[in-house]
Amino acid sequence: MSKIALITGATSGIGYAIAEELVSRGQQVVITGRDQERVDAATAKLGPRASGVRADVASAADMDALYSHVAEHHGHLDAVFANAASGHHSVLGAITDEEFERTFSVNVRGVLYTVQKALPLMRSGSSITIIGSTASIHPPYGMGLYGGAKAAIRNFLRSWIQDTKGSGIRMNVLSPGAVDTESLREALAKAFGADGVAAQLEAMGAGSPIGRISAPREIATVAAFLASDDAGFVHGVELFVDGGMAQV
Ligand SMILES: NC(=O)c1ccc[n+]([C@@H]2O[C@H](COP(=O)([O-])OP(=O)(O)OC[C@H]3O[C@@H](n4cnc5c(N)ncnc54)[C@H](OP(=O)(O)O)[C@@H]3O)[C@@H](O)[C@H]2O)c1
Repeated sequence: MSKIALITGATSGIGYAIAEELVSRGQQVVITGRDQERVDAATAKLGPRASGVRADVASAADMDALYSHVAEHHGHLDAVFANAASGHHSVLGAITDEEFERTFSVNVRGVLYTVQKALPLMRSGSSITIIGSTASIHPPYGMGLYGGAKAAIRNFLRSWIQDTKGSGIRMNVLSPGAVDTESLREALAKAFGADGVAAQLEAMGAGSPIGRISAPREIATVAAFLASDDAGFVHGVELFVDGGMAQV
């Protein structure tokens, strides 16, 4: 029987690439996002092995409805990818309550909801992968809220692998460096103008030991590995997939 995976925030970027990779391996995927039209478009593009549910990870009601849908249609989950998150620039001295609330409600509470509410649907041999970021240990200038949130979820895991001892459920954090997604290109275009995007991507890549930034699929294949039986003894780690960036 084909495996069934849930990926939050998979209407674009890394989440979509993970869904595409799993579908290409014959697995079934349930994807989420906050926008029904984007959910429908991504689901259609992924094909018949995919289904989509509109759900905001920061909303307990949305996440309860999502997992009721999964329980009704699939009965269980083999893999969960807590991917949905967002970040923005805000320097200490100018951080607002609204920015704190927004970052921590999606990036931290959203991960808690995604993982905790999934547990009743998971059985021995299944896995949870949380998408972190190199910002957990190397937050760029002005990314303190985002880096703080990514450090928090990494530390959740140190506790959660103890809390779930004996369940047979593996949990890991996959932390990418810069990934060439539409959202990164949009953010760079906003900051440096459309003409500055290519130079900025080049400069970001040049700063890493491998000399370039990654493609979404290079993150997705590692995510697929972490959820596979080949990673059966990988548990509780933060795996940096960043061309060496966070190690120097
Ligand atoms: N791109 C990078 O360079 C990079 C580097 C390191 C780590 N990461 C991490 O990788 C993950 C994915 O990032 P990405 O760059 O692929 O982002 P992205 O392209 O902006 O995609 C984010 C996805 O999440 C959805 N989403 C956002 N907020 C949501 C919410 N509250 N509830 C449900 N879905 C939500 C978005 O759809 P809607 O907006 O329609 O809801 C979209 O499908 C994040 O955890 C991010 O921190 C990214």
